[in-house]
Amino acid sequence: MSQGVQADPASAAAAAAAVVVVGSCMTDMVSLTSRLPKAGETIHGHKFFIGFGGKGANQCIQAARLGAHTLMICKVGKDSFGSDYFENFKKNNVCTDFVGQTEEAATGAASIIVNSEGQNAIVIVAGANLLLDSKDLQRAFSAISGAKIMVCQLEINPAVSLEALKLAHTNQVKTIFNPAPALADLDPEFYTHTDVFCCNETEAEILTGVPVCSPKAAEKAASILLERGCNLVIVTLGAEGCVLLSAGGSTPKHIPAEKVKAVDTTGAGDSFVGALAFYMAHYPDLGMEEMIKRSNSIASVSVQTAGTQSSYPSRKDLPGHLFQDLS
Ligand code: RIB
Repeated sequence: MSQGVQADPASAAAAAAAVVVVGSCMTDMVSLTSRLPKAGETIHGHKFFIGFGGKGANQCIQAARLGAHTLMICKVGKDSFGSDYFENFKKNNVCTDFVGQTEEAATGAASIIVNSEGQNAIVIVAGANLLLDSKDLQRAFSAISGAKIMVCQLEINPAVSLEALKLAHTNQVKTIFNPAPALADLDPEFYTHTDVFCCNETEAEILTGVPVCSPKAAEKAASILLERGCNLVIVTLGAEGCVLLSAGGSTPKHIPAEKVKAVDTTGAGDSFVGALAFYMAHYPDLGMEEMIKRSNSIASVSVQTAGTQSSYPSRKDLPGHLFQDLS
């Protein structure tokens, strides 16, 4: 830890956190329409709602709903959206010791349009998320170093995400990195401090230049990403499931997803990442393939209802076999 920054004494909840997420909170403003508008076009939608979103918070809430002890490190504005977000974390049993509120920017916001096939287009204004800084991480050092899993994305300042991954990795905490939204010139150190690198087909294409339109193409992109230094790559493919490739010369594996009727795919990737963090923290002996199959099942529940966090299932709503050990 750098000099001059005092780590806060950990509360019991912070000390017990198995999954620590460093990332974003957004207020999602969602319009449901029959199709996505073209540039310059105005179209009618048929429904509007506001929900809790942001990739970091989504992943944290999904892990918490499955029963993980979770802690969120993030920044919201000192506005009603920020105060509502605090309550949302508390309601979902997420430790809020390191949820900061600032007067210098508004709580992050996402404008989301969802068409009748469940596909979306999203614009985010990150606001207060971009004010999360190194000092915030250092204050949370004991919670980070005592966790089992750290999860990061790219809706905050990327330098802060990288510092969080390094802090976790050098303290033997397993890291999951979800490079979303993707940066074509991602700092190479992200790969070397990541255990599980999990991206979707669009992100894989931005990062590697390989158009990912099939499991075969995903395998090619995954092998390029793996060579950059992470231990394991997952490329998610929506209804096609995902491709898994791990270091050590194994062959890539396509893991299909269950066929369901998608109403809204927004945040399904976050549901998958949150579920994976839960399994890695609480069922470490399951094996990655089994963890991915179960995470796919959980994400496939989330696409069957509109909204992001509002569509995430809790443990009590899911079949018991998803929580059984294989031993
Ligand atoms: O991944 C879905 C999320 O992306 C939404 O909740 C929205 O807030 C954007 O961050």
